[in-house]
Amino acid sequence: MTQAGKQLLLVANWKSHKTLDEAITFITTFPRIKTDHKVIICPPTLYLRPLAHIIEEKALSFLLGIQDVSPFPFGAYTGAITAQMIDNMADYAIVGHSERRRYFHETNDEIARKVKELLEVGMTPIICVDEPYLEAQLAFFTQQELGKSVIAYEPLAAIGSGAPDTPEHAQEIASRIHQLAEVEMPVLYGGSVTADSVKTFVRQPLISGVLVGGASLNVDSWAALVAAA
Ligand code: PGA
Repeated sequence: MTQAGKQLLLVANWKSHKTLDEAITFITTFPRIKTDHKVIICPPTLYLRPLAHIIEEKALSFLLGIQDVSPFPFGAYTGAITAQMIDNMADYAIVGHSERRRYFHETNDEIARKVKELLEVGMTPIICVDEPYLEAQLAFFTQQELGKSVIAYEPLAAIGSGAPDTPEHAQEIASRIHQLAEVEMPVLYGGSVTADSVKTFVRQPLISGVLVGGASLNVDSWAALVAAA
């Protein structure tokens, strides 16, 4: 059972999926599930403004996040979307996802700069890390930065594979993250989480939510997951 009073973060990472129409249909047809948890949708950045508008107009209980952000402030950085541009359209930002590291060659140094940019505008970074590099990856942040962030433990082999880590191992990693960071912050687990498995992760004392790709793309599977948490 989830610990009483533990407010979970249920984060949907839509990656490069969905047209704008599909995104709007998703949020407008999503059933109004009564939950005390934070349900955070991270759509493609281009859809933020229309989705934020609909969420406000219809008083939907979604929060919004972005999937990445520029490591730079305003300036001559062609193609980059800065944290300031997001303004108050989103509260959270995923940074350092393994797909960004792998396909866009992002470095820990760039990820650290992204975190600084986000914190400067009052957004909460969701920093993705993986087991083999925990110590090295966390070393790029100050204790104060980590204390204002969310950490997502995402084992590479579990992402999109249908083969999640075990909840017990995720709990061990969450404990290790707390030891290394020497500060309190929510730790999420991400990698092939579904409606069937979400509870097994969030019932672990140190797991404060999940970061979900595949199972967040469809209204029925995401609604089932939110209801199961
Ligand atoms: P998945 O993706 O749920 O499809 O494994 C998780 C993620 O990449 O954040």
